[in-house]
Amino acid sequence: MKDQSDKKNSTSPDPAVLWAGRLAEKPEAGAFAFQASIGVDARLVREDLDLSRAHAAMLGRQGIIPAETAAALDTELGRIAGELEAGALAVDPAAEDVHSFIEGELTRRLGDAGRMVHAGRSRNDQVVTGFRLYLKRRVPEIREALAVVMVVLLDQAERHAGQVMPGYTHLQRAQPVTLGHHLTAWAAALERDLGRFGDAVRRLDECPLGAGALAGSGLPLDREAVAKDLGFARPSLNSMDAVADRDFALEIAGACAITMTHLSRFCEDIVLWASEEFRFINLAEQWSTGSSIMPQKKNPDFAELVRGKSGRTTGNLVTLLTILKGLPYAYDKDLQEDKEALFDSLDTVGACLRMFRGMMAAASFNTGRMEAACVGGFLEATDAAEYLVRRGLPFRRAHETAALIVRDCLAAGRRSIAEQPLGELKKRSGLFEEDVYAALAPAACVAARKLPGGPAPEEVRRQIRELRGRIRDQDLS
Ligand code: ARG
Repeated sequence: MKDQSDKKNSTSPDPAVLWAGRLAEKPEAGAFAFQASIGVDARLVREDLDLSRAHAAMLGRQGIIPAETAAALDTELGRIAGELEAGALAVDPAAEDVHSFIEGELTRRLGDAGRMVHAGRSRNDQVVTGFRLYLKRRVPEIREALAVVMVVLLDQAERHAGQVMPGYTHLQRAQPVTLGHHLTAWAAALERDLGRFGDAVRRLDECPLGAGALAGSGLPLDREAVAKDLGFARPSLNSMDAVADRDFALEIAGACAITMTHLSRFCEDIVLWASEEFRFINLAEQWSTGSSIMPQKKNPDFAELVRGKSGRTTGNLVTLLTILKGLPYAYDKDLQEDKEALFDSLDTVGACLRMFRGMMAAASFNTGRMEAACVGGFLEATDAAEYLVRRGLPFRRAHETAALIVRDCLAAGRRSIAEQPLGELKKRSGLFEEDVYAALAPAACVAARKLPGGPAPEEVRRQIRELRGRIRDQDLS
């Protein structure tokens, strides 16, 4: 594939090794492979072609290269894109990186015209421009997937807005809530993730091209035009910052890690709910696995794997922070390690959102088990205290009274305050009346907690509408 005659000629070094002119010796084979990044950055090929076209066109307009050369470069870059698309050309895995591959192809095909494309640029500004372009395309797909998961959760929440279930603190049954309330809590967390990814993309919307290796260029580049051409909001402010900065990678890796932490927590709930001890959720068979030895098993592997994969995204964020800490300004080769970590985080979030969505859309719930679980753990004790507060008792006294009633019930072998006769209740407080029994039914406890944010069915429906509206208001393009 390579131009052999070129390779032998010492005045025209291997066009695929962009720095070969300086070194009389070729790098040791293993060492070359060690420092190469093609295996990771090949996925920036489309972005590198786009930014090379914008750069070459600008060089032509500015008279830095002849207009016909700019036109030839544009045509050839378009041709390379087409050939890659059609599978007629593949990224050469032996190239150093995607930038060397494209420039090498241009030189192989066009000779000196190809040798003109790199005027005024460095791989340092090039790689970070391609990376930003890639993220500007990729992150909206993650945001779209997040919105779809939110809709799946909100649909399930709406279906179960009135379905009582125990709410937990310390993994102990605490107070009755509704399944709709619980699922809406998950959706509320994902809405923040949607915002975080959106913020990160807004902040990364600057074009580093023209920053060169670190110090810009003496050639009359038109940075504004290139930035505009590539769809960036503006050129980056400072050329050293432009090649040194990876805040955008940190922010997106952070958003990925937080999203995965959310999914991991939801999946922990699902794994618990799928256990025989809870039996709150029925995962669809398509979204379950079996055991190679235990014939009876139906395992929540998908939820477990999503939970487990959150380790990767946390690790990738730490990887990036660690790479950056202590790096002297401006560019260092260490920065090449940025893409593998962030690509893995994006791939992980993308795959896990897809799995979580499928699993949740197909899941059904054991409503009878959830209702039954609201009885027996004195989840109504707080509502009993509030019953007394409504009748004028100071809360601390009401709390103590309800606690004593729980102790009475436990001593008498009763499973709920509702099983305690009114006479017994009155011994603890004369404020109790017959209406206490209706007030302490799980559904009544939930219905009474209708403050904004609370679990009352009509309030949960309002929260669902609010979140649906916020999704609609997002610019998901
Ligand atoms: N391949 C590199 C990367 O992925 C860009 C090359 C810059 N390397 C250099 N030695 N100046 O970040």
